[in-house]
Parts: sequence; C-alpha cells; structure tokens
Amino acid sequence: MFYSQKSKIIDHNLTYLHSQKVFTGQYWDEFALTSSLVPDNAEVLMLGLSLGGGIRPILSGDKIISLTCVDYDSPSVNKCKSFYKEYFPEIKFKAITEDAKIYLSQCSKKFHAIWLDIYEAEAYSSLYFEQDFMNLIKSSLENGGVLLVNSYGLPNHFSPLELDGVQNHLAKFLAANFESLRSIPFRRNITFVASNAPAKIYETQPQAALNAMDKFTFKFIQQKLQASASQEITFNTESSAPTVKEYKFGEIDNQMRAQWQELRNLIKPIGISLNENKEIVMLLENQTQCAKALKHLLDINPRLACFVPILGAGESHSQALDIGWIFDWTYNNIALLKEKLNEDFGDIWLCQLWSLVIHPNGQFKAEYFKMLEML
Ligand SMILES: C[S@@+](CC[C@H](N)C(=O)[O-])C[C@H]1O[C@@H](n2cnc3c(N)ncnc32)[C@H](O)[C@@H]1O
Repeated sequence: MFYSQKSKIIDHNLTYLHSQKVFTGQYWDEFALTSSLVPDNAEVLMLGLSLGGGIRPILSGDKIISLTCVDYDSPSVNKCKSFYKEYFPEIKFKAITEDAKIYLSQCSKKFHAIWLDIYEAEAYSSLYFEQDFMNLIKSSLENGGVLLVNSYGLPNHFSPLELDGVQNHLAKFLAANFESLRSIPFRRNITFVASNAPAKIYETQPQAALNAMDKFTFKFIQQKLQASASQEITFNTESSAPTVKEYKFGEIDNQMRAQWQELRNLIKPIGISLNENKEIVMLLENQTQCAKALKHLLDINPRLACFVPILGAGESHSQALDIGWIFDWTYNNIALLKEKLNEDFGDIWLCQLWSLVIHPNGQFKAEYFKMLEML
C-alpha cells in the first residue's frame, strides 16, 4: 500500500515522493505525529495539498483515519490525485479543490486534527494570521481536537521563537487563540501543536506494512512529540499581541543571512575567519576546523552548535557534501552533546543526522546502524 514498484524517485528528484520510502527527511515526515494525536476512526483535514507528500506520513500509524485534503490550485490537486491513483492506488483520501477559508465556512464536519500548510509561491498565506479564518478552524475542531501548523522560517539553531520574526509572531497568534501550544522543530520548519487543553497523546504503532527504516522513523517522530509535551509555549500578556503583516520568503531569508553573519562573528575569536556566509558550507567539510567551532559553540551557546547537522542536512538536498565525519564525531562526543543540548540533542541534532541517513540519494545509508545505537 505504501510502496510502489513503478520507479525509484517518483515525479521529480526534488519532490522526494519516493516509491520505496515513506519518510525522506523532509518537513512533511513530521505529519506522522498525527497518529499520536487522534483516536481511532478519526477525521483529519490537511489544508494545503500540493503533491501530497504528507499523505503517507499521516496514514503511517495504526489508526483508522479518514483524510480530507484541500487546495485551491486545481492543477496540483489533479496531479496529486492521478499520481496516487497510479503509484499508490490503495491509499485512500479525499482531495477537494477549494480555497481553505471557503471550504471551512461551508463544511459542517468536525475534525480530530487539522493540518495548516497553505503557502503561496513566495510567501505565507495571509490566512495564517486572519482571525476570522482562525475562528473557522476552531469551530471545525472536535472537542479535544488539535490544530497542527507547519511554520517555515529561520533554521532552528537560531531559536526563531525567541526572535522578532514570523515564527514568533505566529506562536503569539496561536497562543492567543488556544489554551495549549507546543512546538516541534524541524530544520527550517516548526510544527505547532495547538489545542484547547494540553493535547492528549494516544498510544500508536507504525502500520505493519511499513519497512523497517520507515517504522523506525515513525517511532522517532512520536518521541519528538513526547519530548515537546513538557514544553508549553507561553508569552506574558503585555508582549503577546501578534504582529500581522505579509511574510515573504525573501524577507525571512534576509533575516536568516543576518543571523549567519552573527554566527561567523562568534567563531572569529577562535581563529575561524569566514569572509562570507557561503563559506560556512565549506567549513562543514573541514572536520578539524568545524569540530573546533562546535566545541566553542557548545560552550557559549549550545543550540547554535546545531548549525552543523541542520545546514549539513539542508544543503545535502541540493549538493553532495563530504560531511560523513559528523556521525563519528557525534558518536565520540555523545555525553558532551547530551549534557549541553538536552532535548535539542534528539529533537534537532539526531533528527537531522537521521534525515541524512534516510535521504533518497543514499549517501549516508551506511550510518544506519550507528544511528540506531544513538537514537
Ligand atoms: C507547501 S504546499 C502543501 C504541501 C502539502 N501539505 C503536502 O503534503 O505535500 C502549500 C499549498 O498550499 C496551497 N494554498 C495556498 N493558499 C491556499 C488557500 N488559501 N486555500 C487552499 N490552498 C492554498 C498552494 O496551492 C500549495 O499547493
């Protein structure tokens, strides 16, 4: 049901809709945590469908889920439907061509979980910050239902929730609308889990039909949810007014470039002088220098050290990097990393190394067993 004999990497190498892998190290892998957040026989809605990378992750647990997906882009919806029909005919979901707001305003059904993942080509959808739209979402949730929001922005080693930017503004907006808010980091994305009481976590197992590697990823994703349960996001009331504006990807990237520059300044005193941000990728391939930077950052600002697995995993999606040393380095420094990074070690560091192992290009698949020992 989850796999197809028809081709190796289906459609296009950047979609990562892989015939033999449900999980490929992309943000939509995280949609698998749905299974821990809904009861059996659940109704789940995914707003934003595109090619439907999130469909198999949503259905990868042992829950019976009736999945409805909505996207206003008719060519995307048609492509997605014919794609699943050809490659994964046993996977069942409803795909509706409609604007998310119109759909919700006309829909009388209630959902146990709603995923919000609607983006325009170069920006966040303005609906993310619209109160009327948020009210429609709230009234479409079952009692105890959860809103799951995919929020794109700064790489997580820059602690985006603590900076003045889109992910912080969105967290404030969600906190103003829900009693409970948690966040789960993934490279440049965060999944917000919003609900009216702390979300109940249900027992779940991966579907028996998944292969061993996908089963392992499924379990690892559920662990991230367990870890987030102790980290409620709160804002003091004076600073909690959400900022609403148009959030363009270009502006988010500008903010990110400034943060990389600050990171370069922090490693300069230990003799690592990088003239430009792009040299940071070269640093990743220089084990001696990069390990020196890591030790320094783990001392002064541990989360920043996570730039190595985050940048390594992110860049590996566009170019093959010689960064295999990071697996041995992690293995040899595991006690230090656990002590300095606490939950970031699993949620960010190991999560990104694992995404390198499961990447469709297979460059780091030999690290599988070392990772199993560490995870
Ligand atoms: C990042 S993609 C969604 C990816 C998808 N969740 C998956 O599983 O692969 C964002 C999608 O949101 C859709 N979109 C943007 N604004 C929308 C709106 N107002 N209503 C419905 N869909 C919208 C776009 O057409 C685009 O296909």
